[in-house]
Amino acid sequence: MIRAYRAELLSVPHDAPDAVRHEPDGLLVVEDGVVIARGAYPDLADKYPDVEMLPGLVVPGFIDAHVHYPQTDRIASYGEQLLDWLDKHIFPAEKAFADKAHADAVAAFFLDELLRNGTTSALVYPTVHEQSVDALFEAALERRMRIVSGKVLMDLGPEGLQDTVASGRAETEALIRRWRGRGRLGYAVTPRFALASSDAQLADAGALLAKHPDVLMHTHLSENVHEVAAVAARFPDSADYLDAYDRFGLVTPRSVFAHGIHLSDRACTRLHESGAGVAVCPSSNLFLGSGHFNFGQADRHALRLGLGTDVGAGTSFSMLRTAGLAYQAALAREDRLDPFRALYLATAGSASLLHIADRVGALEVGQEADFVVLDSAATPLMERRTEGADLATRLFALQILGDERAISRTYLLGECAYKRTP
Ligand code: GUN
Ligand code: ZN
Repeated sequence: MIRAYRAELLSVPHDAPDAVRHEPDGLLVVEDGVVIARGAYPDLADKYPDVEMLPGLVVPGFIDAHVHYPQTDRIASYGEQLLDWLDKHIFPAEKAFADKAHADAVAAFFLDELLRNGTTSALVYPTVHEQSVDALFEAALERRMRIVSGKVLMDLGPEGLQDTVASGRAETEALIRRWRGRGRLGYAVTPRFALASSDAQLADAGALLAKHPDVLMHTHLSENVHEVAAVAARFPDSADYLDAYDRFGLVTPRSVFAHGIHLSDRACTRLHESGAGVAVCPSSNLFLGSGHFNFGQADRHALRLGLGTDVGAGTSFSMLRTAGLAYQAALAREDRLDPFRALYLATAGSASLLHIADRVGALEVGQEADFVVLDSAATPLMERRTEGADLATRLFALQILGDERAISRTYLLGECAYKRTP
């Protein structure tokens, strides 16, 4: 079945100023969920006369490079920085995911919320519980979403949220066996952070990563000053936080580190040479008082970057809003993040981190047709600000003023998976 969509098309396939691909009057042709043609409508009109008009700016589906589905119901929890916030708000909420029915209900709400926000793929933390991964993968399979996740390893976690080296390994292996090759799903070995796993478990995570060349590694890195100090105390022989992971084989091209707010130049050099990626999470960093990501330092070291909401420390599922906050975080350090690069980070950049850039993120021929229809006139104020404006102005306004109200439709594999009620 062939479908041809006529709309303004925009994508940014590479992290380069001239990488913008824009068709003001474009045609996107999809067959069996895959883009088979893309270009200016007048060039393709003869070949595909039967077109559907899409009302808005079509961009690739957003890819959230770091988010916690079990924290959906703890978003906006008042009062603490990272370590106290985890103890007071997050760990109690995660204990409830021992109940599969609870995990099922939250996973369904979470994935529907992603679609409402134009997010079609994500790298997701579940909890320590094996069935929390099953709940998420089952719900993603049903919706045909591209989701990467993996049971959280935390043998030093609080009571009720602990595994052991042996159970963590056995459950990880079982999940990889159970889910490999199904739907659009991928697996990530997921040690919670350096403080929540013993040396033996971190080493085991490194061994799992080495054993399975098709899985990612996903964890947190250098987010909060108190956390960084605790890691330095726990690993006195390590050069820095990243080095504590490196010693266990966890710094690789398949590694995704969330945050990276307080990084030494040594750590940046090592991140670059390893090919590991960083998920920038500006709303979370602001909410927990963690600081602002240093784009200048990251760019000096040519780090691979993507964008994440990090809900529940993040304050919105909207990748538009998150992109707008990334701009503000950059400006706070006297750097700039232009709206096209922000779009890159939210799409192809995150896809590259998740090792799915061959499949999604740029709406190129051969890629899966996950895309979003953006409405730059979603509110009266946005309409006034963007009326008659050029593309850069409209895109920036969508990022600074927009959120899920600006998502008029979300498409998965060429089919409408969410439509805003007018
Ligand atoms: N570090 C360890 N666990 C977490 C978490 O759940 N959220 C955030 N933001 N940082 C963490
Ligand atoms: Zn996180």
